[in-house]
Amino acid sequence: MPQHHTIFFLGATGFLAGDVLHLLGRDYPNYHVKALVRNPTPERVAKLKQLHPNLTVVEGDLNDAQLIADQAATADIVINSASSDHWPSVKATLDGLEKNAASRSSDPPLYIHISGCGIISDNIRGEKVENPKFWSDIGLDLKDCDQSNTHLESDIPIVAAGTRKENPIRSIIIYPGQIYGVGRGVQKTTLWLRIFMDYAKRVGYVGTWGRGFNAQNTIHVEDMAAAVLFIFKAAVEGRAEEGANGLYFAVTDKILSYGEWTKLMGDHLYSKGVVKEPGCKPMSPEIVEPLGNYGWSLLGGNLFAKADRLARMGWKAVESSKVSLMDNLPEAIDAALEDDRPYVHIS
Ligand SMILES: NC(=O)c1ccc[n+]([C@@H]2O[C@H](COP(=O)([O-])OP(=O)(O)OC[C@H]3O[C@@H](n4cnc5c(N)ncnc54)[C@H](OP(=O)(O)O)[C@@H]3O)[C@@H](O)[C@H]2O)c1
Ligand SMILES: *[C@@H]1O[C@H](CO)[C@@H](O)[C@H](O)[C@H]1NC(C)=O
Repeated sequence: MPQHHTIFFLGATGFLAGDVLHLLGRDYPNYHVKALVRNPTPERVAKLKQLHPNLTVVEGDLNDAQLIADQAATADIVINSASSDHWPSVKATLDGLEKNAASRSSDPPLYIHISGCGIISDNIRGEKVENPKFWSDIGLDLKDCDQSNTHLESDIPIVAAGTRKENPIRSIIIYPGQIYGVGRGVQKTTLWLRIFMDYAKRVGYVGTWGRGFNAQNTIHVEDMAAAVLFIFKAAVEGRAEEGANGLYFAVTDKILSYGEWTKLMGDHLYSKGVVKEPGCKPMSPEIVEPLGNYGWSLLGGNLFAKADRLARMGWKAVESSKVSLMDNLPEAIDAALEDDRPYVHIS
């Protein structure tokens, strides 16, 4: 592969992306990162350039299909850390990458997509389960997942693009567990914390989907970004498994139930006067039903994963064994409270 590469990066201002860009800036400073950014204020752009020295901004939104397809058609690598549930932007990316692959069939472009463990939800609606199923990423076939689960709408076509006979691309999908920690990028706090902050401010307490016995594997953002870089490096060096085998769970074996961390979150927000009661309790149907199956499946199910592929390659989490999600949660909440932007827009 040539010395200089162009990476088209979706979601550069996001939480995970901040730590990933920092590592890319450290280890791949001469790669050119073209970051799709909506609302590229001078402050946001300056922060991005601090993370990576050879970063330029392409102003645009995930709904700008033509722009995304054009960028994907000319990049060597596309990394998507923007949304695991925005099919139009993934379709535009795949369209562009297909043209790209057709124009350079001996050296097809690489697509690294960040998805999530929502694909393996058991849809238990917050209830207790005796013997939960643990999923391995080795031998994983997306067709074995409950097809009503989140993320599959994009992930199945990505694997198809990575395995087709005509103009295949090089596809890799990474599945983070519940990412925690305070990030070093533009967005300091993790997506799920912002979602739960948003609900807590609206309803006056910290709530769960159902009784909150459901749980998932956790991972510190520094480990998560290191896992992405580890896979990126292997792919650039031609050592990574791709296509049908290019599915990587990125989790530690530390599992935490929603009931446990929401209780701590409720106590902390109560001590700050943000909510009216400490602890947590199930949210009422009027509150949770508008998010429908998306909410129930992703936030009310068990997502039990084993990062077997990364382990086989010799990857180990470091920071997660020093600082747990519970250790970090108060600090992360305080960072979210300091941010004056709206957390997320939940319809
Ligand atoms: N955080 C977790 O625990 C976790 C766990 C599993 C999977 N994941 C997945 O990992 C990925 C990154 O997560 P994250 O926590 O880093 O998310 P995040 O902080 O919300 O970052 C999302 C990024 O995408 C950008 N974006 C969103 N909608 C856009 C639009 N319409 N047009 C242009 N840009 C848009 C955001 O830009 P703005 O700055 O302009 O908003 C931001 O840069 C997501 O796919 C997520 O589902 C996350
Ligand atoms: C930045 O990327 C461009 C395009 O790949 C490359 O030509 C240039 O050498 C890079 N600059 C630095 C400082 O690495």
